[in-house]
Amino acid sequence: MTDFSQTDIYTDVSLVDDPWAYFEYLRDQGPIARLPHRNVLAVTGFEEALAIYADTASFSSVNAVTGPLPDLPFSPNGDDIARAVADYRPQIPFGLEVAGLDAPLHGPMRSLLMPLFTPARLKAMAPKFRAVADELIGRFPASGSVEFIGDYANPLATLIITELLGIPAEDRPIFLEAFGQGTPAEIGASVADIANNPLVAMGMRIAGYIAERRAEPREDLLTQLALSRFPDGSEPTLEEAARVACFLFGAGQDTTVKLLGNSLRLLAERQDLQAKVRAEPTRVPDFVEEMLRYEGSIRASHRLCQRSTEVCGYPIQAGTTVWIANLAVNRDPRRFADPNTFDMDRPKLREHLAFGRGTHTCAGAPLARAETRLSLELLLERFATITVDEGRHGPEGARVFHYENSYVLRGLSELHLRLEEAR
Ligand code: HEM
Repeated sequence: MTDFSQTDIYTDVSLVDDPWAYFEYLRDQGPIARLPHRNVLAVTGFEEALAIYADTASFSSVNAVTGPLPDLPFSPNGDDIARAVADYRPQIPFGLEVAGLDAPLHGPMRSLLMPLFTPARLKAMAPKFRAVADELIGRFPASGSVEFIGDYANPLATLIITELLGIPAEDRPIFLEAFGQGTPAEIGASVADIANNPLVAMGMRIAGYIAERRAEPREDLLTQLALSRFPDGSEPTLEEAARVACFLFGAGQDTTVKLLGNSLRLLAERQDLQAKVRAEPTRVPDFVEEMLRYEGSIRASHRLCQRSTEVCGYPIQAGTTVWIANLAVNRDPRRFADPNTFDMDRPKLREHLAFGRGTHTCAGAPLARAETRLSLELLLERFATITVDEGRHGPEGARVFHYENSYVLRGLSELHLRLEEAR
């Protein structure tokens, strides 16, 4: 048996492809367990994760994206470090992004986002999303061999968000290039790499679009964002509006790509499941929901304890990083019967925490669901068989799959499929 007692989740690449035994090791220590490095507590319990998401007074989101890397720019002292968190926020990577903000800054920024993903808007955009997916599928090689992540999932996620926002068609290749590479929260990345991601490079360009639309409004979402107001009626600065738009790429790109990849891998591996969903396409939403629980695309999210507290009886000192292992929480046997089995007939399919919970619940969840459902429906309709390319991943029983080298994401770096067109 592997000895995990000194494992450092932020540097150890051996957990990337297969984290499951490590999660069980942590669970054996309890639903909240101390890790040996960086003053981090790992949360694998569902109730405990819910309690932490709900307690925004004790837990700050300032480190939500990158956790304890790099070190905090101050030394936490005492039982209440909320003042220092607020003062040093601009120096913490992603601390000023909507996902990193706390009350009272968070609500107004989030309010700019929420009108963007209404059911009515997603419904209106559905034909355009379908056209994007159709075009990508139309470019699949005639041989039937597809590298699903690069040939479909990656460009789909970028093109759909550029379509939704109204990024000019001629600029889309720049976005495809910027978001088609790099790994968020990469294990072993330098501090500079953590802070310097495609969002920074694209920020200026997006600020330019917002400025143009303030001067000359158009019929698109960037205009809606450009002209939006905070709940108190004040106008967001150019930087604030651009930051929100830009963050959508960061939050919605790799997460959706990886969910698509995880879903296709399972469908290709489990022909029984594929046959079941093919026979009943109305079950695609249930498949997606159980996929989010079984192997969602967020490995973990973080919080910084800013006021010493207790969670379900476990004392937590201010200054401690909490690593909420969403993948493990979604397989907590105290919450989910037979948690390691994929069962799209289980009750309360939407109970999982793949999109987090509470004030920071994923703002783009309706879009992520729509993109994934649409893709599965189209692929199952267009291709009579979807199988794993054994020449690339090996035969059944001896498959090799590689996952993205990230401590926040869970998803394949490549997925080679064989697709046979339906007649
Ligand atoms: C399968 C795909 C996705 C997954 C698994 C996912 C997961 C998550 C999770 C777990 C959080 C909460 C993080 C925390 O509490 O620290 C979050 C927040 C967020 N997500 Fe997603 N996400 C996905 C797709 C998207 C998409 C498509 C968009 C938009 C284009 C998006 C936009 C956001 C935003 C803006 C936030 C921050 C919300 C806030 O802090 O108020 N996400 N997401």
